[in-house]
Amino acid sequence: MVSFSSSLAVVFILVAVFVVLHESNAQLNATFYATTCSNVSNIARAVIQQALQSDPRIAASLIRLHFHDCFVNGCDASILLDNNGTTIQSEKDAAPNTNSARGFSVVDNIKTAVENSCPALVSCADILAIAAEASVSLSGGPSWNVLLGRRDSRTANQAGANTSIPTPFEGLSSISAKFSAVGLNTNDLVALSGAHTFGRAQCGLFINRLYNFNGTGNPDPTLNSTYLTTLRQTCPQNGSGTTLANLDPTTSDAFDNNYFSNLQNNRGLLLSDQELFSTNGAATISIVNTFASNQTAFFQSFAQSMINMANISPLTGTNGEIRSDCKKVN
Ligand code: HEM
Ligand SMILES: *[C@@H]1O[C@H](CO)[C@@H](O)[C@H](O)[C@H]1NC(C)=O
Ligand SMILES: *[C@@H]1O[C@H](CO)[C@@H](O)[C@H](O)[C@H]1NC(C)=O
Ligand SMILES: *[C@@H]1O[C@H](CO)[C@@H](O)[C@H](O)[C@H]1NC(C)=O
Ligand SMILES: *[C@@H]1O[C@H](CO)[C@@H](O)[C@H](O)[C@H]1NC(C)=O
Ligand SMILES: *[C@@H]1O[C@H](CO)[C@@H](O)[C@H](O)[C@H]1NC(C)=O
Ligand SMILES: *[C@@H]1O[C@H](CO)[C@@H](O)[C@H](O)[C@H]1NC(C)=O
Repeated sequence: MVSFSSSLAVVFILVAVFVVLHESNAQLNATFYATTCSNVSNIARAVIQQALQSDPRIAASLIRLHFHDCFVNGCDASILLDNNGTTIQSEKDAAPNTNSARGFSVVDNIKTAVENSCPALVSCADILAIAAEASVSLSGGPSWNVLLGRRDSRTANQAGANTSIPTPFEGLSSISAKFSAVGLNTNDLVALSGAHTFGRAQCGLFINRLYNFNGTGNPDPTLNSTYLTTLRQTCPQNGSGTTLANLDPTTSDAFDNNYFSNLQNNRGLLLSDQELFSTNGAATISIVNTFASNQTAFFQSFAQSMINMANISPLTGTNGEIRSDCKKVN
């Protein structure tokens, strides 16, 4: 016969276990800062709007930071940590980011502005998610309710950044596998690739397609010939690999669905872009066609896929910390 007090103790322990599990599995939600920092999105948006005046590329750069954060250890602002000489090997020095990822100073400006209004409450990981949405909507793309409540990591994973982020040189099946590894499906892959509707890429990342594709001594036969001529002018064979070309040659800084009609016209800049439309029999082709013909469908899918990406393994509850400087562990 179990005593009343020990039954009570069991109930108490079960409740405590439930609370702890519940805490560590806390879901993100749109109202996380409603009572503590209700203006956080406006503050971030104002900083980005200001930055866009002198740098029309910054919106693209900021959404890419969120992507490269989320694919490595989840959306935990690990990408923002600087090398500290010992245990932090910065993701900024990983292959996909070095001499490529940009926008860090704007993230710091947002953080400073947010700290001035609501000190020590808003994570750097949430700032990246908020900045991604503001960047898209300020560029003419969709708006969505950003889910919040992430906390910041105390570690970085440079090796993970080298291996988990897709490269522009790999095949569609390999890129799909990297999306699948973080819980994103084919629809997410095509929708999120639509972020290449703005921003730039360095000649060195696609020049193989212009002169010597797969060692043939000829350009990628898929490339539209007029587009090839233009790209060869931007990226001469003896030029600098760091010269920039627009990812969307039609409307370079606007967030729209032209990226998908470009693919239909063999005007995808990166091999990884064109593969979505030009890989024989791929499930991605019909999704490209849908998004090319219906911008509303693209915008709806993009917003949902951004929410999916922003949900990759967040730190919540009492895990991680709220960094006071996005570049350093507290
Ligand atoms: C599907 C696999 C992807 C590959 C292989 C890929 C690859 C690349 C590469 C090589 C660049 C140019 C980097 C440089 O020149 O330094 C780039 C730029 C960019 N990527 Fe991706 N990307 C992918 C997916 C995504 C996703 C999911 C997003 C966001 C949701 C994104 C957003 C961007 C943006 C906005 C830029 C331009 C950044 C700027 O101008 O600063 N990409 N990407
Ligand atoms: C949002 O999440 C936080 C942390 O898990 C929680 O305290 C809050 O009640 C949630 N809000 C809503 C509306 O679910
Ligand atoms: C919210 O932030 C914006 C942008 O910084 C600012 O213009 C506005 O006055 C702020 N609103 C409140 C209520 O603090
Ligand atoms: C990641 O890649 C960079 C650039 O190729 C290299 O310098 C670095 O050593 C790699 N880091 C790890 C941990 O593998
Ligand atoms: C690159 O090659 C072009 C055409 O052959 C030539 O006109 C140009 O001067 C060269 N530029 C450099 C920097 O060598
Ligand atoms: C475009 O997509 C939206 C959203 O999926 C859908 O409601 C609408 O019917 C589509 N329009 C056309 C013309 O197919
Ligand atoms: C680097 O950061 C780690 C993690 O916060 C910390 O343990 C370590 O002491 C730091 N090293 C230096 C030199 O600051």
